[in-house]
Amino acid sequence: MWASLDPLHGQGGNLHADRLRLRLPSVEPTFLAITYAPMTLPSPAPDRTAIVTGASSGIGAEIARELVRRGHGVTLVARRADKLSDLADELRSAGVRAEVLAADLSDRALRAGLLSRVTELGLVPDILVNNAGLSTLGPVAASDPEAEMNMIEVDVVAVADLCSRFLPGMVQRGRGGVLNVASTAAFQPLPGQAGYGGCKAFVLSYTRSLGGELRGTGVSATALCPGPVDTGFGEAAGFDKEDAEAALPAFLWETAAAVAACGVTALDNGKPVAIPGPANRAVAMFAHLTPKAILVPLLASRHPGLRKN
Ligand SMILES: NC(=O)c1ccc[n+]([C@@H]2O[C@H](COP(=O)([O-])OP(=O)(O)OC[C@H]3O[C@@H](n4cnc5c(N)ncnc54)[C@H](OP(=O)(O)O)[C@@H]3O)[C@@H](O)[C@H]2O)c1
Repeated sequence: MWASLDPLHGQGGNLHADRLRLRLPSVEPTFLAITYAPMTLPSPAPDRTAIVTGASSGIGAEIARELVRRGHGVTLVARRADKLSDLADELRSAGVRAEVLAADLSDRALRAGLLSRVTELGLVPDILVNNAGLSTLGPVAASDPEAEMNMIEVDVVAVADLCSRFLPGMVQRGRGGVLNVASTAAFQPLPGQAGYGGCKAFVLSYTRSLGGELRGTGVSATALCPGPVDTGFGEAAGFDKEDAEAALPAFLWETAAAVAACGVTALDNGKPVAIPGPANRAVAMFAHLTPKAILVPLLASRHPGLRKN
């Protein structure tokens, strides 16, 4: 099978050098076929765990459920310990180990202690899912500096911090996977959510680079780039649900469960980028390729966070 070259390296196909094998069929020595050989996640084991941040709601909770369906034990991280405990109880009924580590990921000291807390539980972190995230809303000129800094701390700094802390062990063991949740906003500037668009562009670029660095280590990195999903995200950002639904057509919306399944499958297959849903893949491609002098004013004229201010 020929490896396909998708410019967005999305679900449709990708070229991931560490998983390519060169094959020269003996019958036709001049024919060079490049085969894509998918790499799978480490096998689940009772002393192994998948760390899932932002597991107290939305996409993170569904990613935890998806990993458990595949037999992985999970360690759930977020601030709301009660929500994490409820989910852990549900997941344990599937016969896997589910642990709760409440932490505010904007707190650098708490982040720094996370790996040792996992180790103290007798667990080896084979999978890291950096899903916790939030957005601010409205023009930068009317923003709260503290809220902007908090968003960047959780959406960007925590992602880089946890990758730096968890990846060395994975590489040493020769197995592991990192799933970083970005957004289709990563493919374009986003006036009205300027900081959020920048954060997610960081996550996408960073994760692609990680994938390049991890070639041949047995560890893979995937950026999951969802379009709109009905979770607590919009409300937390301050979106009016009707405004959000009016600005983003129904065919773009995916369920949190579908997004989670897409992300975990992509991670399991060693894909560098996953965009859930064909419509979102088309929109991301369009946004990526459209001259920004045309795209940015168009987006600014339609964004609910700018129309209200
Ligand atoms: N929903 C969408 O339309 C959409 C689209 C594209 C990408 N995404 C991305 O998907 C990811 C998950 O979002 P979601 O839609 O599932 O939203 P959500 O339901 O609001 O979940 C956000 C999660 O992040 C956690 N979180 C926020 N601040 C935190 C902090 N300081 N420390 C620890 N955890 C924190 C929250 O937990 P606690 O409040 O309990 O701490 C919650 O579990 C985010 O990275 C988001 O940017 C969402």
